[in-house]
Amino acid sequence: MEENIEVIFNGFFRYKNGNFYAEEKRVEDIAKKYGTPCYLYSYHSLLSRIKKFKEAFKGVNTLICYSVKANSNISILKIIKEQELGVDVVSGGELQRALLVNFPPDKIVFAGVGKKDEEIELGVKKNIYCFNIENEDEIEIIERYARKYRRKVICNLRLNLDIDVDTHHYVKTSKKETKFGLDIHSASSILKKHRNNKYVEIKGFHLHLGSQLKDIHPYTKALDTVKIFCKENNFSPEIIDLGGGFGIPYSSYDRVKDIEDFGVAIKEKIKEIGAKLLILEPGRYIVGNTAILLCRVLYVKRRQDKNFVITDAGMNDLVRPAFYGSHHIIIPAKKSTGEKYIKADIVGPICETGDYLGKDIEVPAHIKRGDILIVGSAGAYCFSMASNYNSRPRPCEIMVNKNREFVIRKREDYKALWAGEL
Ligand code: LLP
Repeated sequence: MEENIEVIFNGFFRYKNGNFYAEEKRVEDIAKKYGTPCYLYSYHSLLSRIKKFKEAFKGVNTLICYSVKANSNISILKIIKEQELGVDVVSGGELQRALLVNFPPDKIVFAGVGKKDEEIELGVKKNIYCFNIENEDEIEIIERYARKYRRKVICNLRLNLDIDVDTHHYVKTSKKETKFGLDIHSASSILKKHRNNKYVEIKGFHLHLGSQLKDIHPYTKALDTVKIFCKENNFSPEIIDLGGGFGIPYSSYDRVKDIEDFGVAIKEKIKEIGAKLLILEPGRYIVGNTAILLCRVLYVKRRQDKNFVITDAGMNDLVRPAFYGSHHIIIPAKKSTGEKYIKADIVGPICETGDYLGKDIEVPAHIKRGDILIVGSAGAYCFSMASNYNSRPRPCEIMVNKNREFVIRKREDYKALWAGEL
């Protein structure tokens, strides 16, 4: 099954005369200069994703808050800030990153099922735009700091509407058996109780449904349910924060609705509800297909019944296949021309059977030690989920802008592994 890589990379990563390029840079040259494994980003791909997302939601008052957890590199955050997006943060660390790159506080929203007191205090002190509330006790903590810093803090109630979505069960967040959000009965009583709160103003609802959603239907269903809930509670929401979740193709065989179609359906529902502000928190859509992971073949193990290609990137560098069984395309940096293919599992050097990047992947039959492989769709939840397992330093991150490249994160050295240990 040959992949149509244009569908995934939109032309920002492609083969030219048999060699794979990121914008105008040959990736083998990057691998040689900076070593492997190496995350490689395309600047123009990132700009184009932001532009497409903004255009899809034109026509309603929207605050787009990029979800920092998808990729929190400060150079990436800086580019996102320059494009005038805000951010969705879920920890003190993400909030500090956002402040470090000077996101305006009124474009920062804070979500999370377990916010610590000091994280809430930092948010209130820095006067961020709003908190998304998942627990009644959170309101009391926010109130305490709102009083201390003499502010009125905007809050949205995160609802758990028991809506099922078609994605991996680890990233479904709106089913009632998951830890996220408030059920409608608690939400209803919180609304009544805090209607005249001097320090906390509940302006609306937050509804992140899950991640890598390919279809529009769950969003419209959720908004219809919210509309009924508001009517029953005699509440007119000023803000609807729909969260993120907008899917991307990991393969050209993935069927994902265009972001324009999400936009049309969601805007119509927001107008029906009459909310003044729509907040969106895309992560994967913005960065997912703007990067690849370069790795080098260390060994090829040919067995009678199975082949293994052992690379220098493992589950500590990119955990999604091991963790969720996710599919990422894996292709050679040198296009093979018309020769034979073999099937192989592409695996890492980690001492775990689950350490793989791809299973039963077609690779050129002559694949050998030293060849460079490309793992696709490596911009979201890849570096940000990387670890030092097996005491492996994390990869470097490089960004290409036309024919120039910039190191946006140095490769970790061994000393970084034990810095802080006593
Ligand atoms: N807002 C909230 C409250 C979230 O929890 C998330 C993601 C987002 C926004 C952004 O969702 P996105 O647009 O990126 O789908 N590690 C998993 C994905 C976990 C998503 C967690 N929450 C993966 O690699 O697929």
